[in-house]
Amino acid sequence: MYLGSAWYPEQWPEGRWEADLALMRAADMNVVRIGEYAWSRLEPEEGRFELDWLERAVDLAAKHGVTVVMGTPTDAPPAWLTQKYPEVLRVDEGGRTMGHGERRQFSPLSPRYREQSRRIAGVMAERFGKHPNVLGWQIGNEFCMYSYDSLTRRLFQEWLQRRHETLANLNQRWTTTYWSQEYSDWSQIPLPTGWPHPGLRLEFFRFMSEAFRDYQAIQIAAIRQVADPRQWVTHNLHGWEDLDFATIIADADVASWDAYPGGGSVDHLRFGWYSDFCRTLLPRPHWIMETQPGHVNWSEKGTSLPRGSLRAMTWHFVAHGAEAVLFWQWRAALNGQEQYHGSVVGPDGSPRPVYSEAAVVGREMRELGPLLGRARAQADVAVLYSYADQVAMKHEKQHPDFDPLKHFATFYAPLRARAMEVDVLDSRRALEGYRLVVAPHLYCMDDELAARLVRYVRAGGHLLLGPRSGFKDQYSALRPELQPGRILAELLGAHVEEFYTLDRDVAVSGMLGSGTARIWSENLTVMAADTEVLLRYGTYNGWIDGKPALVSRAVGQGRISYLGAWLDEENMRQVMDWMTKTAGIANDWARPPEQVEVCRRVTDDSEVFILINHGSKVERVTIPRSGRDLLGNRDVAGDVELPAYGVAVVVTGK
Ligand code: GAL
Repeated sequence: MYLGSAWYPEQWPEGRWEADLALMRAADMNVVRIGEYAWSRLEPEEGRFELDWLERAVDLAAKHGVTVVMGTPTDAPPAWLTQKYPEVLRVDEGGRTMGHGERRQFSPLSPRYREQSRRIAGVMAERFGKHPNVLGWQIGNEFCMYSYDSLTRRLFQEWLQRRHETLANLNQRWTTTYWSQEYSDWSQIPLPTGWPHPGLRLEFFRFMSEAFRDYQAIQIAAIRQVADPRQWVTHNLHGWEDLDFATIIADADVASWDAYPGGGSVDHLRFGWYSDFCRTLLPRPHWIMETQPGHVNWSEKGTSLPRGSLRAMTWHFVAHGAEAVLFWQWRAALNGQEQYHGSVVGPDGSPRPVYSEAAVVGREMRELGPLLGRARAQADVAVLYSYADQVAMKHEKQHPDFDPLKHFATFYAPLRARAMEVDVLDSRRALEGYRLVVAPHLYCMDDELAARLVRYVRAGGHLLLGPRSGFKDQYSALRPELQPGRILAELLGAHVEEFYTLDRDVAVSGMLGSGTARIWSENLTVMAADTEVLLRYGTYNGWIDGKPALVSRAVGQGRISYLGAWLDEENMRQVMDWMTKTAGIANDWARPPEQVEVCRRVTDDSEVFILINHGSKVERVTIPRSGRDLLGNRDVAGDVELPAYGVAVVVTGK
């Protein structure tokens, strides 16, 4: 296990480095990420490289037992570069060319910038590609900015041409007869600005995801050409909005994610599913490359993590499968845009209060690292995530409270509330091996995905589809079929008749208890005699009154269910309990208190339960096993008490 921080030796006199590293080591921190903003110090003028100082920093870190992730500095080009080659600069949506003075002012599609990035990455790899203290590489930093320049537009048009082959295809898929948007030449296609066409917008973000992947691949190739194969490559993913993480990370070895709660303590359900997604992206364990050691500088109130919750948060990341957690940052630069950001040591270089908490986690990671390294997640349930749905839905909410990420969480939370392990899976991945597949909303569903879901159910899998599934296709066009689409509706023996957004709650009741639907409702029409209605709506607008809200049909050993409403938490728990039980997933855990999460890991001969209290009150958790709490050094059975932000790691025989 690795614990550490982002460290910027270039911002401090060399005489200070040793003190930093000694302080890290004293807190059992064993990794730093360095270099990712140091281009102006690594190449002060074109072609003149100064890497000796960085090598001295890496060597000194080795002396203190601190390993290194080397960042390529391409998120922040130096002033000489953009002055000499202004064509690399990004243009914003309004047509304004970015200048020097911030970061991310480059276009990832600029050939010149690609060449400059390849060069600096290659030079760094020559120097550090065989360095025993360098574990791996981070390429750039948090890809996220788009350029609206003429080259990007032309490359987008060419990309569309390769993808759609003919303008007739594109015009038909985008229904461009609407508002006379028909194209008779590829060069007419715009970039998505203002109130863009939904098909254009979705394709643009696909294109940009691939553009970042290609941009990154150039640096990866330069590094792999000379580096030891033991050195891995990653990119620190960030934000859950427009880019396709699975595409961006496809050429890397390790997925990493920058996870900032902002103010207050970590929202363990939201962060839990983000982590469970990162864990499934690549076969190797993922990293949390950045998180906050206290407060951030960009949240509205700048509230710090409460005392104790940095430890709980770090354990949360580890419990969801992270191999490393790094704080951003070790020490804030004395000047610059992020002076107010939290750090492990203060401007005077001495430990901030949070350092002692980090040191506790450091010791725990050192002691339990060997066990945690062997313990893997084993999930019977997959919850499907599709970034295309996210891009499309966030602009098509139809109700101010229809936040797709929150909607996603309503399906994930009740599973986790029963201490169940969940893989959050990109919807393009194979589904075999999961007993239950839950799709909160497969909004933009292509025929291939629909066929794969049908095959999964026919082979004995259990599938739950949520509202808005099969509404659109992969081009963001409405499907000329009733939801969830012909072949799924046939399998289900039911289809959606109409959707109604809700301005007040409506009662639902049936075989799966009773509760309320809010925000969204779809009334279902049952066509097959053996399709069961599990929930119906109460009285609302006449259209949905008494109509099915949740239906389910057994298909051989498999089952398909469709839920048309956004349900309240309690009802959703009843639904999920039924779905898991019907899918044959055994679970002897009673529901832990709301603020407590339970993660299960397995080794060859034991089960490891990590219990984390994210709340500020003492909580009791009933565990259906007896075992040994390795952190508390105590035997536990039945009720386990967890103090505020407390953690227990309970190991039981299998
Ligand atoms: C991240 C970024 C870091 C730093 C941090 C502050 O998004 O990678 O360089 O800016 O935010 O929270």
